[in-house]
Amino acid sequence: MKTIIRNAHVVLPDETVITSVLIEDATIAAIDPAIHSEADLEIDATGQWLIPGVVDDQVHFREPGLTHKEDLRHATRACAKGGVTSFLEMPNTIPNTVDRKALEDKLALAKGQCLVNYGFYIGATLDNLAELQAVTRTPGIKIFIGSSTGNLLVDDQNALEAIFAETRLPICAHCEDETTVRANAEAYAGETDVAFHSRIRDHQAALIATQRSVDLAIRHQHPFHVLHVSTAAEVDVIDQAGDLVTGEVCPHHLFFNVEDYERLGSLVKMNPSIKFREDNEALWQALMDGKLQVVATDHAPHTREEKGKPYPECPSGLPAVENSLALMLNEVNRGRIDIRQVVHWMCVEPSRIWHLRNKGAIRVGFDADLALIDMEAPHVISHENQQTKCGWTPWNGVTLTGSVVQTWVMGREVFRKQQGHETFSSDHGAGHEIQFAHGHG
Ligand code: DOR
Repeated sequence: MKTIIRNAHVVLPDETVITSVLIEDATIAAIDPAIHSEADLEIDATGQWLIPGVVDDQVHFREPGLTHKEDLRHATRACAKGGVTSFLEMPNTIPNTVDRKALEDKLALAKGQCLVNYGFYIGATLDNLAELQAVTRTPGIKIFIGSSTGNLLVDDQNALEAIFAETRLPICAHCEDETTVRANAEAYAGETDVAFHSRIRDHQAALIATQRSVDLAIRHQHPFHVLHVSTAAEVDVIDQAGDLVTGEVCPHHLFFNVEDYERLGSLVKMNPSIKFREDNEALWQALMDGKLQVVATDHAPHTREEKGKPYPECPSGLPAVENSLALMLNEVNRGRIDIRQVVHWMCVEPSRIWHLRNKGAIRVGFDADLALIDMEAPHVISHENQQTKCGWTPWNGVTLTGSVVQTWVMGREVFRKQQGHETFSSDHGAGHEIQFAHGHG
């Protein structure tokens, strides 16, 4: 099958040019304004933008075990709509993904169910070092240095030293200090206002855990990625560690702060908690300055019923894969950032950090994972038009300008929006297992 996408503004690794892209089967076969190949399908993309598909390196898709909240079919339709062509999923499912068997079972479950490409982290526990050393079909190791949803937690210093010293895969961590969080929770016990969540999971909790884990990374010279950075102070710790340590920010920590609890209540309760307006600004600045490398979502759906429970029982987390790219494109339209930066943070850097083979760029020979963008079309996000199984969004009612009109995964069209009408491929075998080039640079 040959498809030619003609005359889009194509975001290439070193420049953005109006050109044409030939997809042959699953691969980008040519990039040339004058392609004269016989194609099965020609798309006139004049005036639109073609970017590499987004690689979201932090999602919770809840399968197996928690499929009343989300599942791979719903979540990957949400991805396709949002221009996310590859996801890396976290281990706090049931069972936890903490050994080879659970990882291989998850990979087998994903096959044939995913509209987009998939990869799964292995979670660290106090005693699974041998498993962390043995697995290969994974982007890396996830450590919950502070506990969040589920029961994964490694807070013990000796266990952490061993994981950083004796494993080879890249490591990422949820950094909130357990001791600080527990002490704060005790101090505010009985409080029922959700805004206390940001006092319990406070700035100090995030900073202490990030310092602690960055220190481990430096001493053991182990590549390390700090997930969902939420405070200005963490940025400096990450930056001072140099290339060994990378950092990531999520849309909710860029767009929401404690002032939003009044309007959105538990819908914006997540871990790490939202912080202050100054943190939003500092996190944007850190992206611009290259001090944080990645924008990913931490897509963490819970049902509306669960979110409707009183504080503190209401669970932490919000869905975002179908809106993250559009939220960033809207900022391009507002003049805050440019589209090349979006591609850098959402495609190039996650592919580099997790060693994804042939992804993250529009390059001849790379996988044809692509998103075509209409930068001018406004659209309204609503609970009703979400694909995620949980059926709600914290951005309900928000109008954004710029969105995905077509998505290809391994050369196959999986999503198309035409005159406001959305069509999804029924081929849930379109997504492939992501290949990782660990140890090969
Ligand atoms: O708010 C969160 N929810 N943060 C996490 O780290 C986990 C996630 C979840 O799985 O619900």
